[in-house]
Order: sequence, then C-alpha cells, then structure tokens
Amino acid sequence: MYKAGILTASDKGSKGERQDESGKVIEEILLKSGFDVTVKVIVPDEKEQIKEALYNMINNKVNLIITTGGTGFSKRDVTPEATEEIIERKTPGISEAIRYNSLNITKRAMLSRATSGIKDDSLIINMPGSPKAVRESLEFVIDTLYHGLDILL
Ligand code: MTE
Repeated sequence: MYKAGILTASDKGSKGERQDESGKVIEEILLKSGFDVTVKVIVPDEKEQIKEALYNMINNKVNLIITTGGTGFSKRDVTPEATEEIIERKTPGISEAIRYNSLNITKRAMLSRATSGIKDDSLIINMPGSPKAVRESLEFVIDTLYHGLDILL
C-alpha cells in the first residue's frame, strides 16, 4: 500500500478561517483508490513553508503528495515555484493530462500553472484550489498514477 500526503496551500485555511474542503475531497479519492493517507497539512501561501512541508513528507517516504491551491495568477500563488525548487525530475505529462482533461470542462483550466515531478521516492502533483477542480483533476489521473508509482518504487 502506497503512502500518500495532502498539502493544502491556503492563507485563509491555515488561519482556520476556511474549511479545507479540497483536502477532504483528495483524502476521499485517495482512500477509495487504496492509498494510506499518512499526513495532511495546511500551510499559508508562503514558498518556504510549502517547501518545508514537502521536504517533511519526502523525508517520511510519502510516495504520492497531492497539493491543492496556489497554482493560479494571484501574486500570493507560489505552489508551483515551491514544487519546482524541490523536484529532481519533472513529470510534465501528468500536469498536461490534467489541463487537457480540465479544458473540456472549463477554459479557465489554462490559468492553472500547476506542475509535478519526482524527488527520491515521492511523486508531487499540484492541483488547483477548488474542491470541484481537485475532484475533476485527481479522478482523471489516479489510476495511472498507481502504474507510475509501481515503476518508480
Ligand atoms: N480545473 C478544473 N478541472 N476545474 C476547474 O474548475 N478552475 C481553474 C483552473 N483549473 C478549474 C480548473 C481556475 S478558475 C483557476 S484560476 C486555476 O485552476 C488555478 O486555481 P488555483 O489558483 O485555485 O490554484
């Protein structure tokens, strides 16, 4: 059973001013797909705090890390930058697939700057912030991610 982690990047969520609905959606889908969800964190949209949380999960050998939020055009959106400073090998196909599928649902999918990649035994994938977007994104790729992890690990 692969270990999975959820990182929610949200200024309001980290202050307890907003419920983490997107994190809950991710957890529901991961559990349904047979992952062991070992860690869930909410951090503000601060690059260094996002990086620290990602490094913690990587050091704890969390195999699949799903992030939600902070991929858009707001000046506070820095999740892709934090992720890119950590990953050693990019997995552009995953992020392209998510955008490709999402563009059939909303043209605004082109506004997501989400990225993804591998560091050690961890695959990190950015997803947009809304519960709707996260569901549409994760459900589309989840079965294929399993195959990717089988090859990586
Ligand atoms: N992808 C899907 N599947 N469904 C959506 O509703 N919303 C988009 C996009 N991707 C959306 C989506 C919108 S409106 C934005 S601004 C970007 O994701 C970035 O979202 P974020 O800033 O919450 O990360």
